[in-house]
Amino acid sequence: MIVITGASGHIGSKIAASLLLQGQKVRCVARTAEKLEEFAGKGAEVSTISLADTSALIKAFSGADAVFAMIPPNYKAPDFRAYQNAIGASLAEAIEKSGVKYIVNLSSQGAHLPDGTGPIKGLHDQEVRLNKLNGVNILHIRPTYFMENVLANIDMIKHMGIMGSAIRGDLKFPMIATKDIAKFAVERLMKKDYTGTSVKDLLGQRDISMNEVAGIIAKQVNKPGLKYVQFSYEDTEKGLIGMGFSADVRRLFVEMSRAINEQFIMDIPRTKENTTETPFEEFAKLFIGLLLD
Ligand SMILES: NC(=O)c1ccc[n+]([C@@H]2O[C@H](COP(=O)([O-])OP(=O)(O)OC[C@H]3O[C@@H](n4cnc5c(N)ncnc54)[C@H](OP(=O)(O)O)[C@@H]3O)[C@@H](O)[C@H]2O)c1
Repeated sequence: MIVITGASGHIGSKIAASLLLQGQKVRCVARTAEKLEEFAGKGAEVSTISLADTSALIKAFSGADAVFAMIPPNYKAPDFRAYQNAIGASLAEAIEKSGVKYIVNLSSQGAHLPDGTGPIKGLHDQEVRLNKLNGVNILHIRPTYFMENVLANIDMIKHMGIMGSAIRGDLKFPMIATKDIAKFAVERLMKKDYTGTSVKDLLGQRDISMNEVAGIIAKQVNKPGLKYVQFSYEDTEKGLIGMGFSADVRRLFVEMSRAINEQFIMDIPRTKENTTETPFEEFAKLFIGLLLD
């Protein structure tokens, strides 16, 4: 039995689909039953609980050979790191008390740093917390910036004809499709070929700039005028108010953008082992459907 937290999310849903296709016994954990119906229909057990409910989580992890563990975002949290630490502590207690021996923990590039990385700080805390557990094999996967983040530009492209964020337009940095993260996690959850505590960096297919990203999307959707604009940190923080983000989360997002621009989050050298397959050109096909409706 493999248990997947965040099972209706970007990564968890792809892990669940792949494991079910391969005939694995799967238990999907998330709060909203409707978003898990597809997997229930394919034979998955479903556990609609909050990760904050530790006793329910211990039951959900019981009998598992392996768990995909993640701390989902809660952008409304007044103190985001405190929220991450509460969920993180609940996950750690459930791992310990359920006796599960293999954990793939979703972390992030930058999680080696305790500070200055915005929302990644709580993932650093979680790595440290899980590393203290005895007798559990824990693989922390540290993916880079998700290509899916770029989808947040859809409305801006539709209504203003631009895309933008606080990240420098000309800065090449690693970007990954979440399907590449899921593929790696599925292999590890099935093979359980890691011992003790270890870390795996996942840097996507290549380093790419936001200017190039805009150019690729412009070509895909036949909008040659589509350009990327770098917003100031102040404007970015104000812009996030409209998305309902708490003041703390807005500040953390700006801190992370600054860390990307100053290149101290994504400073791992690219190798064959940390490079994955999906190029942005393939991911960008998604924009065709999304921008035509
Ligand atoms: N975006 C990036 O560039 C990036 C890069 C590196 C690492 N990360 C990390 O990746 C993680 C996000 O992964 P993702 O994009 O796959 O997630 P996601 O798409 O936001 O999905 C979140 C999942 O968690 C569930 N969930 C949310 N709150 C919950 C709660 N309190 N209890 C139980 N389930 C809950 C959601 O379903 P319900 O709402 O129905 O419960 C959903 O299944 C974060 O830890 C983030 O820091 C992100």
